[in-house]
Amino acid sequence: MPKTSAHSLPAAAVEFQRALLAWYRAQRRELPWREAPSLYKTVVSEFMLQQTQVKTVLPYFARWMEALPDFAALAAAPEARVLKLWEGLGYYSRARNLRRVAQIVAALPEPPRTPEAWRELPGIGPYTAAAITSIAFGAPAAVVDGNVVRILARLTADATEFRDSATAAKAFAPLADALLNRAAPGDHNQAMMELGATVCVRQSPLCLTCPVAVWCAARRTGSPEDFPRLAAKVIEQRAVIRVWCVRAGRLLLHRAADGARRLAQLHELPTAAHLGLSEAAAARGELLLKKKRGITRYQITESIHAAPPPRGALAAGLVWVPLAEIDTLTLSGPHRRWVAAILHQRV
Ligand code: ADE
Repeated sequence: MPKTSAHSLPAAAVEFQRALLAWYRAQRRELPWREAPSLYKTVVSEFMLQQTQVKTVLPYFARWMEALPDFAALAAAPEARVLKLWEGLGYYSRARNLRRVAQIVAALPEPPRTPEAWRELPGIGPYTAAAITSIAFGAPAAVVDGNVVRILARLTADATEFRDSATAAKAFAPLADALLNRAAPGDHNQAMMELGATVCVRQSPLCLTCPVAVWCAARRTGSPEDFPRLAAKVIEQRAVIRVWCVRAGRLLLHRAADGARRLAQLHELPTAAHLGLSEAAAARGELLLKKKRGITRYQITESIHAAPPPRGALAAGLVWVPLAEIDTLTLSGPHRRWVAAILHQRV
């Protein structure tokens, strides 16, 4: 990779960096991981912010820091406690990976300092490795995520139609790298994230207040929203039939096995299949709740039907949980809401 210093960059790039950094330092949101930053706060916030917006993360981050203030505390915490603190944030493998990262880092004499070394750790891709090492150690690694792609596609009015956001991120990595301010990589990266989140937004970008609008080719086209061009996602429809089964003050739940990839140790309302019922049979029970939700490329319609308690021994993974103890378990966010809604309508 060629070494770029401010002197060998085109003058426009240097001015772009200056304008962006000055704007960020004057306008940035006050966020808890930006106050008295530490490596631990940076790592936790970057894991939470994968696939999740800042405003959703804020209360989780505060509770987390209170409960698990450093790598050693997180490394020593039981997985069930860590998952409970994550309850509602979704994508639970992030919580498990974060705990494993803490165990690895806590066992080392010094934390790793390069993006390459961080990428060896569980759950850390190029974006998170660049974010952590640039913010915590000033490593010269540019972040490229959907926000950054949007900014760069607009700056250049690049009309390429990208297959998906990962392909677009790869295509823009060299430009992100060329524009990186090597004197302040952490602030530069956070400035790009901030610009994408607050000004160069997908719909109706606030070009009038944009600190880098003078360099923006898309703005000159008059329709900056047209960039970047991403192929329409193919959304698949799915239907899931679940059962609501209460006996003597206990609710039947399904607890995913420890080794399950997505939901290990999380409790959910059981599906018809968990009870060995056909979907048609389960769907004959009274419909208590019907909800749609999107997960990655699926649009899932979930229907929850009342069912009589199963006879005989319970199938693997099924547990009767006293209703009074539901709050102490970890349920995924939607299931927690559905259980509350059904209990509310049935009292
Ligand atoms: N998104 C990902 N990382 C972020 C950070 N450090 N600040 C704000 N938004 C982010």
